[in-house]
Amino acid sequence: MLRLDQVSVRFGGLMALKDVSFELKGGEILGLVGPNGAGKTTLFNVISGLTRARGRTLFNDKDISALPLHKRARVGIGRTFQIPQPMKHLTVRENLTVAQVFGAGRNDPARIDEILDVMQLSEQADRDAQSGLALQELKRLEIAKALATEPKLLLLDEVLAGLESQAKRQFTGKLKELHARFGLTIVIVEHDIETISDLCSRAVVLNFGQLIADGTPAEVFRNPLVVESYTGTPHA
Ligand SMILES: Nc1ncnc2c1ncn2[C@@H]1O[C@H](COP(=O)(O)OP(=O)(O)O)[C@@H](O)[C@H]1O
Ligand SMILES: [Mg+2]
Repeated sequence: MLRLDQVSVRFGGLMALKDVSFELKGGEILGLVGPNGAGKTTLFNVISGLTRARGRTLFNDKDISALPLHKRARVGIGRTFQIPQPMKHLTVRENLTVAQVFGAGRNDPARIDEILDVMQLSEQADRDAQSGLALQELKRLEIAKALATEPKLLLLDEVLAGLESQAKRQFTGKLKELHARFGLTIVIVEHDIETISDLCSRAVVLNFGQLIADGTPAEVFRNPLVVESYTGTPHA
């Protein structure tokens, strides 16, 4: 479904991504892990069209490297942001409607109702999205907004960060439900090993912009290179 071919991004003297290549099959739930600053969000920005990169990005065998953000949303690439960004002065429902028009090119209130229901936001639908929500509700809205764009591929950037373990398990269950219900392919950035192992069939690891491991979560988390990248032990 998605193929990255030698993707590189440079910010001044910093190589944020260096020759990153991997392939993602339809229906997979892939964990994207790595220390802070490794390039995970930059990779999402490349896939979703916010950041231009060297190399190629293919989606369903089409080269989308030159497609701008809104066109990538229309082909079915949806994402969340590390810091939830609801649109100011709009209600929860209005936020979803704007996302749907942007990403799917249509306004389908029944679908919005369904998403509100699945994400347990029906009661909050008419609240102001910026001032009227608690942290967990904001996180659910961030996911709901991405769903409203009607994605085939959903990129989740640390949506579980800051939750305590019970809430994390609830959210993980919800993500499995969304995966099945909407037939999604998912890439999730998440630090918690237990969550990745529970949710993902596969994980890839970035360190200093390079892909250093790719395998099942169990394989990846016992890979010495990965352990080193987390403990900060230098390697050649
Ligand atoms: N717009 C930008 N301009 C300059 N440097 C950036 C920019 N975005 C990210 N970086 C740098 O690129 C590296 C990777 O960042 P990021 O992709 O956010 O890492 P992660 O999400 O894995 O924590 C970091 O060193 C970060 O400071
Ligand atoms: Mg990040």
